[in-house]
Amino acid sequence: MDGFEYRNGVLHAGDVPLPAIAEAVGTPAYVYSADGIRSAFSRLMAACETMGAKPHYALKASPNLHICRLLRELGAGMDVVSGGELERAWLAGTPMEEIVFAGVRAALSGRFSPLGTAAESFGRSGIEARGPVGLINVESPSELERLSAIAAELGVGAQVCVRVNPNVDPKTHEYVTTGKDRNKFGIDVDQVPPLFERYRDDPYLELVGLHVHIGSSVRQTDPYADATRVVLALVDDLEAAGHAIAVLDLGGGWGAEYESGEAPSVDAYAAAMAPLIAERVAQGLRVIIEPGKKIMANAGVLLTRVQHIKQGRTRRFVICDAGMQTLIRPALYKAFHFIWPVQIEAQHLPPKRAEHLDLEDLVRCDIVGPICESADFLAHDRDIPEVKRGDLLAVFSAGAYGMSMTSNYNDHGRPVEVMTDGGKATVIGERQTLAAVLEREREGRGLELGW
Ligand code: LLP
Repeated sequence: MDGFEYRNGVLHAGDVPLPAIAEAVGTPAYVYSADGIRSAFSRLMAACETMGAKPHYALKASPNLHICRLLRELGAGMDVVSGGELERAWLAGTPMEEIVFAGVRAALSGRFSPLGTAAESFGRSGIEARGPVGLINVESPSELERLSAIAAELGVGAQVCVRVNPNVDPKTHEYVTTGKDRNKFGIDVDQVPPLFERYRDDPYLELVGLHVHIGSSVRQTDPYADATRVVLALVDDLEAAGHAIAVLDLGGGWGAEYESGEAPSVDAYAAAMAPLIAERVAQGLRVIIEPGKKIMANAGVLLTRVQHIKQGRTRRFVICDAGMQTLIRPALYKAFHFIWPVQIEAQHLPPKRAEHLDLEDLVRCDIVGPICESADFLAHDRDIPEVKRGDLLAVFSAGAYGMSMTSNYNDHGRPVEVMTDGGKATVIGERQTLAAVLEREREGRGLELGW
């Protein structure tokens, strides 16, 4: 279903055996399955229809242009958070009206491009004429103030959603919790109506709606219902005060299945919100959601090669060429990723993806990387079939926030990215060479500081 399966003991992405990819491009490598992306997106689209929502892909999850292009072709809008991400969304072919942006100048002018004419090498021209983005989400009163000043300076109108902090606990890891009042995100509910009042007659800004995003890897649907109720009550108040609310952006964060059976389906998330918004949708309310993980997490694996096995006094270490520089989620969030050899005997076919499987002849080990830190691990205390130096491991559910959070720590180049489609495999992002890593330091540039 997610595009990865064992066939005769060999893990395949689509119809392509992963050992062939490792042979061709080396490791570590991120491998995505186009079919996996298509199937996740089509399930999501169906769920969106039941709630009358339009999905905007949160491209921070996996920003590769080829992935954005594929999702764009499938009908996704884009959710972006920086000038760089805006550029990607645009280079991927997304019309500006279908981009939701949290950020300002580049989005408003529609004329600014950090790439300039270099955009042509990505098949996009007409930077001058691309126009402003469809919707801007703002997080704070001072951001709104700045937005209003820039809009006036440029003489450009903008439609704005105000991000509300609903003070709802998404019951996920504290580092990816965004909906509680102790989090920096959004504006407290009671501060929102005065803001709508203040900008009621702004000549350039039109406050058209509300935005809420409570966190990531939210594995329960209740918090979505709670947050939706909070914003709907606010919509009632705003409408009673004479403000027209045309848009509701209900954010992302829908939990992906890192471990079999742990996450609700897209339909369950949709069902938690659909009845609450149904009446307003029927009256023409535009509803947006911004998922990243739910689309991409399971559509990618990280392919890594075992470099050494070390038997310590109390532990067995499997040392790989991928580590915290390649996939930081275990180190940062203690995130679980199912890890299994790419080539296995029949008795080791995993019945599901889970921390511990009831199979014969497994060996308990710590799966670690090459970085000089004890936080450099992919898994602790994991039972896997015995592996030896040179074997390949697949780190599953690595398609979201894997590549996008890589680093050059310890001077490792960033990994190669490959996408498979049926029996075809394409390099969609080259491995970063050491020369490219060092290039930006080639000659120290003297600064003219004027003193
Ligand atoms: N909308 C907003 C405003 C967001 O901040 C995010 C993610 C999303 C949508 C998409 O969330 P998703 O559906 O992908 O969960 N690095 C972390 C996740 C951080 C998410 C940041 N914001 C991880 O690897 O788990």
